[in-house]
Amino acid sequence: GVTRHYKFEIRLKNVTRLCHTKSMVTVNGKFPGPRVVAREGDRLVVKVVNHVPNNISIHWHGVRQIRSGWADGPSYITQCPIQSGQSYVYNFTIVGQRGTLFWHAHFSWLRASVYGPLIIFPKKNASYPFVKPYKEVSILFGEWWNADPEAVISQSLQTGAGPNVSDAYTFNGRPGPLYNCSQNETYRLKVKPGKTYLLRLVNAALNDELFFSVANHSLTVVEADAVYVKPFQTNLLVIAPGQTTNVLLKTKPQFPNATFFMLARPYFTGMGTFDNSTVAGILEYEDPLNSSSSTSSTPPLRPTLPPINATSAVANFSSRIKSLNSAKFPANVPQTVQKHFFFTVGLGSNPCPKNQTCQGPNNRTKFSASVNNISFALPSTALLQAHFFGRSNGVYSTDFPTSPLQPFNYTGTPPNNTNVANGTKVVVIPYNTSVELVLQDTSILGAESHPLHLHGFNFYIVGQGFGNFNPNKDPANFNLVDPAERNTVGVPSGGWVAIRFLTDNPGVWLMHCHFDVHLSWGLRMAWVVQDGKLPNQKLPPPPSDLPKC
Ligand code: C2O
Repeated sequence: GVTRHYKFEIRLKNVTRLCHTKSMVTVNGKFPGPRVVAREGDRLVVKVVNHVPNNISIHWHGVRQIRSGWADGPSYITQCPIQSGQSYVYNFTIVGQRGTLFWHAHFSWLRASVYGPLIIFPKKNASYPFVKPYKEVSILFGEWWNADPEAVISQSLQTGAGPNVSDAYTFNGRPGPLYNCSQNETYRLKVKPGKTYLLRLVNAALNDELFFSVANHSLTVVEADAVYVKPFQTNLLVIAPGQTTNVLLKTKPQFPNATFFMLARPYFTGMGTFDNSTVAGILEYEDPLNSSSSTSSTPPLRPTLPPINATSAVANFSSRIKSLNSAKFPANVPQTVQKHFFFTVGLGSNPCPKNQTCQGPNNRTKFSASVNNISFALPSTALLQAHFFGRSNGVYSTDFPTSPLQPFNYTGTPPNNTNVANGTKVVVIPYNTSVELVLQDTSILGAESHPLHLHGFNFYIVGQGFGNFNPNKDPANFNLVDPAERNTVGVPSGGWVAIRFLTDNPGVWLMHCHFDVHLSWGLRMAWVVQDGKLPNQKLPPPPSDLPKC
């Protein structure tokens, strides 16, 4: 591989959408941010210079970071944030991965404007396991707030109430014509008839799992989270924040003399507090007879999207994703398990501090979220440094519970006490341990799908179901042959998923809900994977410019 250098200048920039202009934190003045490309086996060296007042760090979402955990990026987990006026060089090699990923800020809610595509092409002379596309395009789904997202989340954390919802969803930063004052901010994909296009889709939205569809065109799914899958055709795509999906779109053989909407809108509306609006982009054929104008006068055709809360459509879509599992790209599912974990994920509440009025559940509490009843409290220094230098005292404790503190019927009546405990707790686990982890949605304050993202690993989704996980019955139905291999999985609303992975990457690895509001409320924890015995199983020391807290 080769070494590729990038420079990210973090700067404020005025951006206008929906007739609102605001100053935003951006990379190199771009919204969304610049495209980063590499080939499998290449080294990426990205110098990030922070010119804004905010702290920041950048995460390379889905990159395995094998023995390069210092470059992973989540603030207070693998590094202290890059402070105003400081810089840090992210230096890592892409090992054994190719496909669509993305990079994003991993501090507070800065991800709202600091994100961009990370495209990993196959090695030179290697090809895709599907037809060579005529063209490749990236479409990043995002969210736009007229207000400053940093103010939105800090207000929520202070009052305990749910945050204000975004004002629009976007394709590559553009809300499209179904929003007021947004006609000119429409994403247009110009195509020729009779060609195959590879769409690299990324859900970079903060808080919404999305349905996506293109009118009168079916899509062939070929990759999910930068792993090839068994190709399948669909009219509907479901994509949670943190997930990426590559699809082939074959255009009509003849010029159709019509334009087509590409639409996305949320699957889930939370407790009535989520926005149920639609982002639209336009698929536009180039008219072979009239090259000056390619837009027809009739309005674009619309696809039908499932209704809000169509949980069965989501389950049906995710059950169709299977590893390609070919000779060249085998699925290496751990067949035996050394350590079992059962984690509940869900919302809860925290008592309102004295002398404060809270607007959370029951008026006397604040919204909170937890894993096994523990709401993760951010430490004041990075966990990875504390671990590497043997200074964990006062930073974190190693008693993260392997099963919930207060088990109950997760899909029945919620318990009276919804309070969670705050703590900075981790699971310590030896190198090369095969892990099975069952994630159960608790439905304490309503059933929700939580997109759980694991840093540093891909995992196999060996099982999923609705209701309570049954350890005596459900494992018999696990798929240990060709399950989907991903870095982010939607824990079904009112249900569970089981994942397996091998801890072959020493370091400290965050696992969290990729809804930023749940992340901020504490739905996160960390795995400390110890060094192995051999020199190539150990985490090297940090780079000298690693930021200090
Ligand atoms: Cu894409 Cu920890 O995040």
